[in-house]
Amino acid sequence: MLNASSIRCLITAGPTREYIDPVRFISNPSTGKMGFALAEVALEAGWNVDLVSGPVALEEPDGAILYPIISADEMFHQVDALFDACDVLIMTAAVSDFRPKVQHSAKQKKDGAELTIEFERTKDILKNMTDRKVHQTVVGFAAETHNLIGSAKKKLQSKNLDWIVANDVAQISTGFASDTNEVILIAADGSSINLGPSTKKSIAKELIDLITPCKTKD
Ligand code: CTP
Repeated sequence: MLNASSIRCLITAGPTREYIDPVRFISNPSTGKMGFALAEVALEAGWNVDLVSGPVALEEPDGAILYPIISADEMFHQVDALFDACDVLIMTAAVSDFRPKVQHSAKQKKDGAELTIEFERTKDILKNMTDRKVHQTVVGFAAETHNLIGSAKKKLQSKNLDWIVANDVAQISTGFASDTNEVILIAADGSSINLGPSTKKSIAKELIDLITPCKTKD
């Protein structure tokens, strides 16, 4: 049986950026606050923390190993390299689902009145990890603006997760840049528990406590 100091937790946080040319990219408003709060709480619980983060303006949690990445592809490769050694994967990152098909090496000039950019899908990081998971507890986040529970449950099943955290990002108090949040934690058997409204740190404490795998409890 593992104790807290032998639990290795892999957390992803923040947005990814998909560059069009050297000075333009598509991204999203994620600030990484929820992922960094989870990293802090996991460290306080005595866990080892690998934190894979997109570009954010947050201080590195003391004791975490930080792996900064920019694009969804870079996040995929970093998570792929760390997944086998982890006991818990928590994907809070707002990963871009699409990237420009062509990334220009030089700044694009505004030659015409319109611009059309073709996009292609990025890899689903969670799905790729659960397809080969052995003992890991895998937790996803579902950022939704409507049909919160229905969409989150669909992702829980299609990505073969142990837990999903349903997060209504349409509201300012629970959205991307907020210090507070209100979420619903849904288990693989469909049961759920409401957490918050509260600070992201306080929600993180409840989440870490609830998702701790039985076999890894002290
Ligand atoms: N995710 C992932 N790889 C992607 C996109 C998302 O691993 N390429 C993860 C996120 O980190 C999150 C979960 O999948 O934990 C759900 O992400 P979300 O953006 O809510 O959903 P999508 O799967 O992208 O589906 P949709 O955009 O259609 O809602």
